[in-house]
Amino acid sequence: MTDFERDYPNYRETPFFEHGDEPPCNTSSNRNFYQVMEARVERRGFLIGGLAAIATGLFGSSLASLSSSTALAQSGSGLIGFKSVPISFDDTVVVPEGYRFQVLGAVGEPISGDMPAYRPGANSGAEQEHQIGQHHDGIHFFPIDGSSEDGLIAVNHEYIEPRFLHAEKEGYKGVAADDSFVAYDADGKRDDDEVRMEIAAHGVSIYRTSKQADGNWAVVADPRNRKITGGTPIEIGGPVRGSDHVKTKFSPDGTRTRGTLNNCAHGVTPWNTYMTAEENWAGYFANTTQLDQKPDLPREHARYGVSTNAQGGRYGWHLAKSGADDYARFDATTTAASAIEDYRNEPNTFGYMVEIDPFDPDSTPIKRTSLGRFAHEGVVFAKPVEGAPVVCYSGDDARFEYIYKFVSEGVWVPGETDGSILDTGTLYAAKFNDDGTGEWLALAPGRNGLTPANGFADLADILVNTRLAADFVGATKMDRPEWGTIDPKTGEVYFALTNNSRRTQAQVDAVNPRAVNNFGQIVRWRYDNTDHTKSSFAWDLFVIAGGKTTSALATGGALSDDNTFACPDGLWCDENGRMWIQTDMGDIGPDYEGPLKEFGMNAMLAADPATGEIRRFLTGPWGQETTGVVSTPDGKTMFVNFQHPGAQASAEDFAAGKFGSGFPDYDGTVPRSATIVITREDGGVIGA
Ligand code: FEO
Ligand code: CA
Ligand code: CA
Ligand code: CA
Repeated sequence: MTDFERDYPNYRETPFFEHGDEPPCNTSSNRNFYQVMEARVERRGFLIGGLAAIATGLFGSSLASLSSSTALAQSGSGLIGFKSVPISFDDTVVVPEGYRFQVLGAVGEPISGDMPAYRPGANSGAEQEHQIGQHHDGIHFFPIDGSSEDGLIAVNHEYIEPRFLHAEKEGYKGVAADDSFVAYDADGKRDDDEVRMEIAAHGVSIYRTSKQADGNWAVVADPRNRKITGGTPIEIGGPVRGSDHVKTKFSPDGTRTRGTLNNCAHGVTPWNTYMTAEENWAGYFANTTQLDQKPDLPREHARYGVSTNAQGGRYGWHLAKSGADDYARFDATTTAASAIEDYRNEPNTFGYMVEIDPFDPDSTPIKRTSLGRFAHEGVVFAKPVEGAPVVCYSGDDARFEYIYKFVSEGVWVPGETDGSILDTGTLYAAKFNDDGTGEWLALAPGRNGLTPANGFADLADILVNTRLAADFVGATKMDRPEWGTIDPKTGEVYFALTNNSRRTQAQVDAVNPRAVNNFGQIVRWRYDNTDHTKSSFAWDLFVIAGGKTTSALATGGALSDDNTFACPDGLWCDENGRMWIQTDMGDIGPDYEGPLKEFGMNAMLAADPATGEIRRFLTGPWGQETTGVVSTPDGKTMFVNFQHPGAQASAEDFAAGKFGSGFPDYDGTVPRSATIVITREDGGVIGA
């Protein structure tokens, strides 16, 4: 064992497993992360000793000069002014000295209709259709008339925890229910109203909020308040619209579908609309079609993980007792003579970025299929340039999936360009070369071998099968791409690569440099002349996350007590260029044991991209992940989400009425995802 292996003394014995993971089985003598870096460092002649030098070597010679800024980073760059908060193991929210927070928009809070009251664990489906959904994720504040005290919030609801939605109902109360449990009757059917509620608790909540006379923010009734749920009618736009892939009983001409699901992160277009991502949508469907007694799924289901088990849909919605079409459509089994008589194509209408106009409650959301079909985490737009194409980036969050870029065919015309510009253009997948260069590989008919002879009939076929097209062209398999953001000062693109416990030593490369990667890293890239339409770029790693001896910074050195973190997920640069980093280590609670224990509860940090300075800004309650962050235009009010507090509670705890977290009510009722509103006691800019 070399010195560089000391950081993982028992890593083969103590890997971090997620649900469904297999144990690492690569016992080859391939070099590990530190040996790979050591070799690179030696080649470049930067070996000075310790992780700082390794980082310098890993991150490339172009950054060696940045090590001179390390002293600046340690003394403070001026961009970040608060004092770091410590790691927390408590069921509380901790913000820095001089900061305060309040809770806003928790699950069940009414926003529309006759404003049905929140009743913990007891609301109906019809009520939830007018209440804030569950599992908050991506969020944006759309100012009304430019105000920093009045605006529309759009917030995603990624998935649900049925036991908390239905906690007081028969079949749940007092029952040993884990975080994915749903109740079935003796016939294996689900209660219709529970299914209706669960579909309604997905999607996007749009509501007005404003600062009240007492200084607190509140939900305000407004005609623009609405829910876009797992059942809302949605247009299919772009090249996939009208293709055979999306023709269903509901939409025989393939132009519409119902609902958006598993809405993780989001994006905001240059024309000020909201885009919600469809991430782990495949699990909501079941396809039991068989040939010769074996599952027989089309590639557009199989490559995305549609379940082949009759009970396999994530929450069994297709098993609703009534058999109503709104629910039966989640069964994608071939049952009829043609695709317009069943729902074999329903899963092909999911997996997109969906555009929503929050200011027009009568507008129909549109799935922008040009941006590809995969487990979209979110989307981030480059600053638009008049007369140039619109460019955006989106990651596919699954192990060994890809990062994508879309470049529009049309050009940006301020005041004229709208969402239709996203319907024509070129999708690319990223290839990261080990030498710090990279290239974008076009996923378009006739390019990079994507021809009918190779199984890609046309553009719609390529887009519906985006993952297979990216496989075919040889894109780089990444460690779970999560959020991206763009530094407004430099135009550099940052992406969080959250973790990948399954990467083996043999699969290590320069951009994914760690096997059994429990802690994740943040990659960034740049273009000549900040031109995002270019097909080549230069990249480096901003930070390899981890503990004090398992992390590395581009500027040299490693993380310290003030900023150790793991599993970066949410990433957002505010207008001043402060980069906010949110962690998702899973359902971490006080009893967690494993390699992530040293990091405490999920947290949010702030970074200065220029200096590499990072400080821990807040820590959240038990079981949650910290995800979704945005500020008002003046930077003085920040909105941050806590998703799935209490999720770590065991089935037995739930049965005993112990719900894993008290947040935010702390009154014995079920925990709720919620937004917190953060302000400074002196009224200053958050983070400064
Ligand atoms: Fe929903 Fe990739 O986090
Ligand atoms: Ca995420
Ligand atoms: Ca995540
Ligand atoms: Ca999540």
